[in-house]
Amino acid sequence: MKKLVINGGYPLSGSVKISGSKNAALPMMTACILSDHNITLNGIPDLADVKTLITLLDSMGMKTKKNHKGSFTFNASEIESKFASYELVKTMRASIMVLGPLLAKHGEAKVSLPGGCAIGARPVDLHIEGLEKLGASIEIKDGYILASAERLIGSTYSFPKKSVTGTANILMAATLAEGETEIGNAACEPEIVQLGELLNSMGAKIEGLGEDFISIEGVENLEGAEIEIIPDRIEAITMIIAGIIAQGELKVENINPLHIQQPIELIRQCGAKFEIFEDSLFLKGPDTILPISFETNPYPGIPTDIQAQLMVLNTIAHGDSKIKETIFENRFMHILELKRMGANIGIDGNTAIVRGVSKLNSAQVMATDLRASAALILAGLIADGKTIIDRIYHLDRGYENIEEKLLNIGAKVRRID
Ligand code: UD1
Repeated sequence: MKKLVINGGYPLSGSVKISGSKNAALPMMTACILSDHNITLNGIPDLADVKTLITLLDSMGMKTKKNHKGSFTFNASEIESKFASYELVKTMRASIMVLGPLLAKHGEAKVSLPGGCAIGARPVDLHIEGLEKLGASIEIKDGYILASAERLIGSTYSFPKKSVTGTANILMAATLAEGETEIGNAACEPEIVQLGELLNSMGAKIEGLGEDFISIEGVENLEGAEIEIIPDRIEAITMIIAGIIAQGELKVENINPLHIQQPIELIRQCGAKFEIFEDSLFLKGPDTILPISFETNPYPGIPTDIQAQLMVLNTIAHGDSKIKETIFENRFMHILELKRMGANIGIDGNTAIVRGVSKLNSAQVMATDLRASAALILAGLIADGKTIIDRIYHLDRGYENIEEKLLNIGAKVRRID
C-alpha cells in the first residue's frame, strides 16, 4: 500500500494553484443523467472519486468523452441501467446522488445504501424522505434502495437537518417533476449553488439558490450546457494552513475569496496576514501562532471538512483552544494520530481541547479518512524528522497532485510503496 514520506521543518514559499472542486464536480456529473444532450464540465479535478463516479455512470450507459485535461462531455441519451452497486457506493458515498436524477428521468432506480463510514453513521434517510414527498415509492431491500415513480410530483419538503448531498438529490429530482417543489432548510454551499446554476443553464427553473428556501418549477426536458467548475475551497484552506504553519509566504491562486470568507476571518486570529485579490490571495504566517477556537457549521460557517487541518494549526499554537464538531459525530479520528506526533489534545464529547506544544515530532501514522489524511500531511510538514503516512489512498480521493503542489513550494514529500 502506498505511503507518503515527509521530511518536516522546511518553510514553504512560492505559489500554489487550487484545483476544481470535487464536491461541485460530483453532483454536476450526476446531473448529466437528467438530460439527453451533451453536457460539458470543465475543470474536473483528476481524483479517485471522479474516476469512481465515471465508472458508475459508464456502467449505466453514459457516454463520457474526455476533451482535454479536466474537460469532459457527458451524454446520457443511451442510459439503460438504473443500478448503482454496493461495490461502487461503498467506495464513494457521493454515488447516492444518482438516485434523484435516475428517478426523475427514468422513473426507477436501484441504488445501494451507503452504510456507515469512518466519520460517523451518515444515514441517507432524509434523501429518501424528500423523494417520497415528491411521490416516489421507496422500499429498502437487501441493502438497496428500490425507488420508482411514474412521474415525480412537485411538493414541499423541509430538511429537519441541513444536508448537502440530500439537497442535491431533491433539487435534481424536482427539476423534472410535475409542478412546483419547495425545499426548506436547504444547503447553501457554493457547490449546491453551482449545481443549481448548471441545472438552470440546462433549462431548469430554480430560484433561491444559496438561500435556505429553494423553489423549483418542474419542466418536461432539460437541454445541454457547459460550465467551469468552481475552485475547491477545502483544498484552498488546506494550503493556506500549510503556508501558515510552515512559516510561509505563499500565493494561493485560483480561489473564490467569497467562498472562504468566514474561514479566512477565523484564521486571521492566529496572527497570519492576508492580502486578498479577485481570484487569489497572498499570505504570510506569523512568528508565533495564536490559538483559534471555533465550531463547525453548515455554509457559510466553518466547514467540517477543514476541522482536522485547523486542529493541526492549534497543536503548535501559543496557548489553548477548543474545537467543537457539530456536523459529524465521529470526526476526531485524526486526534489519536496527532497525539502520536506529540500533540496535546483531549476530547470532551464533541469538543476537542488542544493545548499548544512547541513542536510536533515525526512518527509513523495512518490516514483514516480524506480530511484526516490532509491533517497528517500538515502535521508532517512541521514535525521534526521523517513522518510516514500510511493509507494515503484516502488522500487521492480528494486532493489533485498534492505531492507535486507541495514539492513546488518547498516541501520535502515523496510517495513510496
Ligand atoms: C457533504 C460533503 C462532505 C461534507 C459534508 C458536510 C459532498 C460530496 N460531500 O457530505 O465533504 O463533509 O457535506 O459539509 O458534497 N444526515 C442525516 N440524514 C441524511 C443526510 C444527512 O442524518 O439523510 C446527517 C449526516 O449524518 C450529518 C449531517 O446530516 O450529520 C450533514 O451531512 P450531509 O450534509 O448530508 O453530508 P454529505 O452530503 O454526505
